Amino acid sequence: METSARREPTLLTPRQIFARLDAYVIGQEAAKRAVAIAAYNHLKRIEARRHRRGTLLKKSNMLLIGPTGSGKTHIARQLADILSVPFTTVDATEYTEAGYYGKDVEMMVAELLIRANHVVEDAQRGIIFIDEVDKIARRSQGARNGAGSRDIGGEGVQQALLKLLEGRDVQVPIQVSAGWNRSDTVALDTRDVLFICAGTFSDLFGDGEDGHRRSLGFNAVDGPPRRRVLRTRELVDYGMMAEFLGRLPVVVQLHLLGEDDLLRVLVEPPDAITREYRELLALDDVSLTFREDALREVVRFSVSRGLGARGLRSVLEHVMADVMFEAPERRARSVVVDRGFVHERLKTADDAVAAAAH
Ligand SMILES: Nc1ncnc2c1ncn2[C@@H]1O[C@H](COP(=O)(O)OP(=O)(O)O)[C@@H](O)[C@H]1O
Ligand SMILES: [Mg+2]
Repeated sequence: METSARREPTLLTPRQIFARLDAYVIGQEAAKRAVAIAAYNHLKRIEARRHRRGTLLKKSNMLLIGPTGSGKTHIARQLADILSVPFTTVDATEYTEAGYYGKDVEMMVAELLIRANHVVEDAQRGIIFIDEVDKIARRSQGARNGAGSRDIGGEGVQQALLKLLEGRDVQVPIQVSAGWNRSDTVALDTRDVLFICAGTFSDLFGDGEDGHRRSLGFNAVDGPPRRRVLRTRELVDYGMMAEFLGRLPVVVQLHLLGEDDLLRVLVEPPDAITREYRELLALDDVSLTFREDALREVVRFSVSRGLGARGLRSVLEHVMADVMFEAPERRARSVVVDRGFVHERLKTADDAVAAAAH
């Protein structure tokens, strides 16, 4: 009793984790709750293991499913921040099964170790975010899901990942460079590493390359189409191995963000882009105001180009370019960004923004 009372304050509760995610991640309520619970269970499991108690608790590795720009990477990164653990993102398509040309999956762990400034104990509690796992679907299904363009079957990569996800000792190169010496390795245990896999699984939603394309029309505004809940069966049919999915017990779906959500993304989080601009200009003694309808224009432009949340920054950058250029000469003045201003600026935006967002 006494020990648990002493331990309690250090272990964030699901509610606390949720609250901190909530400040930075707009919408996606169900996803934030599920991630908060999974993260809490993860912490409890680590705690139990640390006290050398046998534990039945399984790893809470997660699979995040959602369209491009819905916040999959964002939510994982925020979680790492909240838990104060090292974080690395890797792309599943860059890896191959051992023996083939390409990276071995162990290199993911090496990258985490770098993020942990080479402190093994820290890396062992870190988070590895594996993006694009839908692209390592089994090849026999490839004709339908596009994975067929890979030379080496994704199944081998899924296979190679099984042990890593579950937890085992890996020999990790200390220096990840072209000519690293095989002998320069360190043992790292992935049993407490949290793996968060992510993919769009677009084809399962019948909305093409990503969710935004289809939402070009009216229902972009308030009717995100991806509300359907996927079943494990569908993921297996898609080409994910049952054993692979079995090691990702927490499946979380994120939805396409609507216009109102994207507007909130621009202004609400403590690190929101508009706050950043206000701070930048304040340093030049310029006070900056964004009108709401101006920001809505930015959102609409980004959505209409299929860029969604991902395009917000580059669209706003384009809008603000001249203001930023002239800022030092506008000392002690105020700048109001209104709808007309945005509209005018966006007439020339297409090429610049498209280039920046891809
Ligand atoms: N739900 C959200 N709340 C706040 N910002 C978001 C959200 N979703 C996306 N963003 C912003 O858009 C950017 C791209 O999102 P990202 O997490 O990379 O999308 P995904 O990984 O799902 O493709 C993030 O860096 C973040 O700034
Ligand atoms: Mg991402």
